Amino acid sequence: MGHVLHCTGYDVTKTDIVRAEGCRLYDSRGRSFVDFEAGVWCTVLGHGHPRVTEMIRTQAAEVMHLGYRYTHELMESAALEVLDSLALPGGRCVFLSSGSEAVEFGVQAARHLTGKPVLLALANTYLAAYGSAGRKHSAEWFTLTWDECLNCPRGEACDTDCPRWREIPFDRIGGLVFEPGNSGGLVRLPPVKVVQALARHIRDRQGLVMVDEVTTGLGRTGAWYGFRHYGLDPDIIALGKGLGNGYPVSAVVLTHETAARLEDDGFRWAQSHQNDPLGCAVAREVVRVIRDEELVARSHRLGARWWAELQHMAAQYPPLREVRGLGLMLAVEFAADSPSFSLRDVYRQLLDAGFIVGYKPEARLLRFYPPLIIGEGEIDRLLAELDRILAHPSS
Ligand SMILES: Cc1ncc(COP(=O)(O)O)c(C=O)c1O
Repeated sequence: MGHVLHCTGYDVTKTDIVRAEGCRLYDSRGRSFVDFEAGVWCTVLGHGHPRVTEMIRTQAAEVMHLGYRYTHELMESAALEVLDSLALPGGRCVFLSSGSEAVEFGVQAARHLTGKPVLLALANTYLAAYGSAGRKHSAEWFTLTWDECLNCPRGEACDTDCPRWREIPFDRIGGLVFEPGNSGGLVRLPPVKVVQALARHIRDRQGLVMVDEVTTGLGRTGAWYGFRHYGLDPDIIALGKGLGNGYPVSAVVLTHETAARLEDDGFRWAQSHQNDPLGCAVAREVVRVIRDEELVARSHRLGARWWAELQHMAAQYPPLREVRGLGLMLAVEFAADSPSFSLRDVYRQLLDAGFIVGYKPEARLLRFYPPLIIGEGEIDRLLAELDRILAHPSS
């Protein structure tokens, strides 16, 4: 691999993956690993879902890509399928390639429509790898820290009388960009009352509400979309990751009114891979499979049981400090290392036992974002292994 630049910031832990199927990765020696991270949280249907693979094969042979002046019926049909999953029948979609692109499109659209330079985001929000949403320059973004909101003595009174709110430059803010709980992989869930109050306040001032559902969309949190847990009705929704199940397709969804205003205003966005028939075919099939296989309800059901089991372990093992999450987006926070406990060892032992889990040492986290088809038996085996490791920490 001397000619590949690895610059993600993550250590490469396995160099010989040769195949992936369902929830498993296989190495060159035939060993298999259960992928509790779904790649980079993308393969919601499992690796190589037969319906998606077949769709790619068929569509690639017909037409993958078109120029801006030409359309294919798949674009409309994929848009209808995505809008149906959002219960937004009058809305409109643009299909792009990556989550970062979808978020940046939404951010530029919000700025264009409101004419205001600043957008509000909550602390820990990860929005994009580049662009305005990636840089989060202070001239363009106001970031609200919300740790104090968790134990706020003012209770439900979340408004401009709050000292934290008085710091927010609402007159310059055109929109809220909210990411429902993935929180840059920390799996921290901002309080519902805070998010709702901010959204209301910004809307009252003609601002827009955008949600970044790149990670939390498509059933990940046990609802079709993470913003459902917050009772929001966003103007702009960014989708990615799970929408392609590993194939790079993303989407920006706009309400009817938002899309109409952008069109009237002559908003322009053109990139090579925009509304590509192949990406549209994949997105449409992924949404259909999620619906046909009832994976949203499955995510909710399995996630609730898993969460309860982890809570039970937390009561038993002091290093296991906190369990967080919704649906199949779960994280466990651990105490600092001690002579008898090392989080890195826990992670390594899980890997040696055939379980790939998310590992964020600086936040003391192990994370689980498996495909939504994950088997109950696979969850049970992971829990049993974790239990064994925590019961004999130095073995
Ligand atoms: C919430 C969120 N938004 C946007 C992105 C960017 O998506 P991509 O890496 O596909 O560009 C990510 C990626 O992890 C994400 O988690």
